[in-house]
Amino acid sequence: MKLHGKVAIVTGSSKGVGRAIAVELAREGAKVVVNYRESKDEATNVVTEIEKIGSTAIAVKADVSDANEVETLVQTAIREFGSIDILVNNAGYISKKVWHAKLSHVTEEMWNNVMNVDLKGTFLSSRAVSPIMMRQKRGKILNISSTPALTGDVYGFAYSVAKAGILGMTKSLARILAPHIQVNAMALGSIETGWIDWLSPKEVQDLIKETALKRFGKPEEVANLAVFLASRDSDYITGQTIVIDGGYYAH
Ligand SMILES: NC(=O)c1ccc[n+]([C@@H]2O[C@H](COP(=O)([O-])OP(=O)(O)OC[C@H]3O[C@@H](n4cnc5c(N)ncnc54)[C@H](OP(=O)(O)O)[C@@H]3O)[C@@H](O)[C@H]2O)c1
Repeated sequence: MKLHGKVAIVTGSSKGVGRAIAVELAREGAKVVVNYRESKDEATNVVTEIEKIGSTAIAVKADVSDANEVETLVQTAIREFGSIDILVNNAGYISKKVWHAKLSHVTEEMWNNVMNVDLKGTFLSSRAVSPIMMRQKRGKILNISSTPALTGDVYGFAYSVAKAGILGMTKSLARILAPHIQVNAMALGSIETGWIDWLSPKEVQDLIKETALKRFGKPEEVANLAVFLASRDSDYITGQTIVIDGGYYAH
């Protein structure tokens, strides 16, 4: 097992990509803090799933855009498990309305909601775990970004900007926290989670057509990459963005 004895916090792991990452880290031996904001039942189910595979997890409610709640999340992890070796900044805010809003319809509220969860949440969680990782002289921070951060997109304006900010933050944190802590980002293409339900059959087909591998990715495929970036196998990689998009960006 690649992560035996490690402790991981995965923000927003009650469902979707975060859920898959939490389960795969646990399968590799990590104890996992399953963070959620609203979906308590789903988070509890993830804990049960992890326990069934013989590992340990707790569910902790915290809004990653709130500094006090993030501090409580981190302190709970320390109290329960004694260290924090891996932080996955996965929590993200997006809605059909935010995704489709034309520039003139992007409200300050939409902008703030996205920035607060995706960008500020990544900052607050990284800031909270970094003194602990520095003291331990080890740690891995994985940030979740998205291909529009690299390409731009006519949709999801605030989202693309926030995800681009995360890539800049990844490089700065990698330098600030070197040499003992590695910080990397994953830029995801279209992954099969709840947002697919917003799309019309034609939109689904168009996205698949534009993806070299002719399919959406699975959360478990992102989780496999997360295991690599959380493990010693990636010790000489920091400040990087790994694109996992089935060749959409390369197309
Ligand atoms: N799916 C894709 O195709 C895709 C592509 C590119 C990037 N991404 C990124 O990958 C990440 C996961 O996406 P997903 O598709 O798995 O999303 P999802 O299914 O909507 O899940 C989002 C998760 O984030 C949590 N969350 C939202 N706001 C939060 C907050 N303020 N504090 C703590 N947790 C919060 C939710 O928890 P609650 O339900 O408990 O609130 C949920 O567990 C996001 O950062 C997203 O931007 C996804």
